[in-house]
This record gives sequence, C-alpha cells and structure tokens, in this order.
Amino acid sequence: MKKISICGKGGSGKSTVVALLAHGARDRGRQVLVVDSDESNPGLYRVLGFDKRPEPLLGLVGGKKEVFPTFSEETEHEENLLTRKEFRVADLPGDYIVERDGIGLVCIGKILQSLEGCACPMGVLSREFLKRLSLQKDEIVVVDMEAGIEHFGRGVETSIDSVLIVTEPSFDSLELAEKISALAAEVGVERVWTVLNKIRSKEIASRLRKEMEKRNVSVIGSIGYEPEIFQSGLEGRPVRRDKLETDIGRILDQLL
Ligand SMILES: Nc1ncnc2c1ncn2[C@@H]1O[C@H](COP(=O)(O)OP(=O)(O)OP(=O)(O)O)[C@@H](O)[C@H]1O
Ligand SMILES: [Mg+2]
Repeated sequence: MKKISICGKGGSGKSTVVALLAHGARDRGRQVLVVDSDESNPGLYRVLGFDKRPEPLLGLVGGKKEVFPTFSEETEHEENLLTRKEFRVADLPGDYIVERDGIGLVCIGKILQSLEGCACPMGVLSREFLKRLSLQKDEIVVVDMEAGIEHFGRGVETSIDSVLIVTEPSFDSLELAEKISALAAEVGVERVWTVLNKIRSKEIASRLRKEMEKRNVSVIGSIGYEPEIFQSGLEGRPVRRDKLETDIGRILDQLL
C-alpha cells in the first residue's frame, strides 16, 4: 500500500510538491491518483495541468449533511460505491475523476457558501475514501491535505501509510513540522519525513537540517526555490519540473 499524505503549513508548497511528486512517480511507471483533500483552495487541477476539475466526491454520498449518517453505521451499502468495504480507482464514475497520462485527480469537496457549516464532513469523507480505496500493483495515492493539523483531529491519517511534511524556511513551519511528526507517530504512521522547500542556498538547507535533527524529524530531501515555479503559481499555470528533476528524484527514491 502506498498512500502518501502531503501536509504542512499554509503556503509552504504542498500543492506544488504534490504535482512534482505525481509527475515524477508517473514517469517511474506508477499509476498515480491525486486526492484533493483541501476544502478551500480550488486550483489543484490547474497546478497538475488539467483543464477542468472533477465533480466533488461529496456528491456521491448526497452532500455534506449525508456524510455522518452514511458512515456512522457499520453496515455496508453495496449500492453506494463509497460505502462498500472496498472499491478501486477504476470503479469511480467518470464525472468524479479527471485522468491523463497516468495521473488521475479526485476532489473530496469544497466550502462553497457562507454559513454552510464546518468542514468536518469533508475530513470524514477523506478518511473513509482512503480507507476503502483498494490499490492495485503500481498504483499510488498522493493526498493534498488542507493546511495545518485539523486533518489529524479528523483521523484522516489513520487511512494512510506515509506522511510527507512540507517545510519552508520559517520558524512557524519548523514548529509545525515537529508537531505534525508527533501527531503522525501517535496514530501509528511509521513513514514520516519532511521535505524542505523553497531553499535558496546550501546554508539555509543545512541550517534547516540541523533544526530538524534537534526536533527529531527526518529530512527526505530539499527542493530549491525556483522562480519558474513562483511564476507559474502567479499565472495559474501547471508546475514545471525542468530544474528540479534531481531534487524530486532523490525524494522519490526513498518514498516509493
Ligand atoms: N520550490 C518553489 N519555488 C518557488 N516557488 C514555490 C516553490 N514551491 C511553492 N512555491 C510557490 O509558493 C506558493 C505556495 O505554494 P502552494 O500553493 O504549492 O502551497 P500550499 O502549501 O499548497 O498552499 P495552501 O496552504 O494555500 O494550500 C505558490 O505561489 C507557489 O508557486
Ligand atoms: Mg495547496
């Protein structure tokens, strides 16, 4: 099983890293399913290079209000795909997944209106979707988490096996990496690392590595600050990997 959650501080580069890893893993022969589990930001499909987003999976269970009743019962409803004990990527209805060149994207759900209530149902749906999704050989899942740590409160990580924390060069980001690493250990995830992102010099990289060592967080690798990535973020274009192949390759060597 390879279900990898990408988490960390807001704006640290989670969605960027998701796209870089998804393309890199696909190039290594994996079938990649990206799960958009961020209920706020709408643009992951663009970062990945798709021209439309999939219908939110919330629609398959009848909307936010139906999530708790649907998953609170122990019984499985064969007629509803998402409440089956197990289902595969290939079982997902066409409107709910966009796919191209070995990468698929599904979206849990987005907050659409003022006063519509909290995002807890999305967390529950993420957890149940990831738990029930049965992967075939060579399939992997990469989850783009919402910023911060609320997803741990909702138990999403109980259904995944690897946690990758994106850390940018800021004290808050370092502190959050330490916190997330402890939370992941608490729910029994054994494969936990941080990836340093937006690194502008060897000095900054080595300083962050020392800080992580003090905090007992393993560093899987680092990704340079790349003006072309910043530019594509500004213009809403897909992430390009040209100058980051080596950085991403080293991370995938350990992750896959
Ligand atoms: N290695 C990098 N080099 C240059 N810019 C980067 C890099 N990684 C991310 N960025 C830029 O930083 C910004 C935030 O990146 P991204 O949206 O991936 O972060 P995020 O953690 O997913 O944010 P959010 O918490 O809002 O979901 C974007 O403008 C992106 O282009
Ligand atoms: Mg994001």
